[in-house]
Amino acid sequence: MQHPAVIAIDGPAGSGKSTLGALLARQLGYVYFDTGVMYRALTVVALQQQLDLHDAAALATLAQRTQIEVLHPTIADGRQYTVLANGQDITPELRQPVVDQHVSFVAIQPAVRSELVRQQRAIGTRGQVVMVGRDIGTVVMPDAPLKIYLSASLPERARRRHAQHTQQHPDALERVASELARRDQLDAHVLQPASDAILINTDHLSPEEEVERVLALWRQEYTAAACPTTGSPAQPHPPE
Ligand code: DC
Repeated sequence: MQHPAVIAIDGPAGSGKSTLGALLARQLGYVYFDTGVMYRALTVVALQQQLDLHDAAALATLAQRTQIEVLHPTIADGRQYTVLANGQDITPELRQPVVDQHVSFVAIQPAVRSELVRQQRAIGTRGQVVMVGRDIGTVVMPDAPLKIYLSASLPERARRRHAQHTQQHPDALERVASELARRDQLDAHVLQPASDAILINTDHLSPEEEVERVLALWRQEYTAAACPTTGSPAQPHPPE
């Protein structure tokens, strides 16, 4: 394949990106990389340091000075990965409501984005990775051979978020929905599907059905890349 084996999955909060991404990566034996955790990690550190989250210069400096590492889980507590910020395990903090509330302010800063995109691209370029985010297909890995853009209605996304995080979000469903709507607005600057992305609405699909759909597309991609004229076998091996 000409480009590194990357599946880019973008879409709004609660559209099912993480579930799909993690399942796909497991099936393919690829790395699962949820790029949103980098913005979250920086937000955790900014909150710990009590920075003004609208101070562009302070956030730019923080992005350059903070070493964020996304590792395989170091503790068997159900986590999908361990995230270190300057060596400190901040994984439990990443999904706290206070981080949900503030992460979009950090992610909107151009200097933060350019630094994190640079780091994300370095990981994507190694290949064999399922990358999940908002701008993977448009900015981080625009040459990814397969780009998926997931969507789902606001009530469905709220229902899923509410069911997922009943402990962190003991709020009513309506509160979760309005928080998602607020984040959609704040994330609008990156919420554009790439022109060559395949749009999948997940309202009525189970995660397993989504995985099947994307695996079928990935197999097609391998076949087309491996045998444009001769029909020779795909290299490396296509997914089973
Ligand atoms: O997917 P998430 O909720 O963990 O994302 C957290 C925040 O980071 C959200 O405000 C969108 C932003 N984000 C982004 O701007 N670009 C990405 N590639 C991933 C996330």
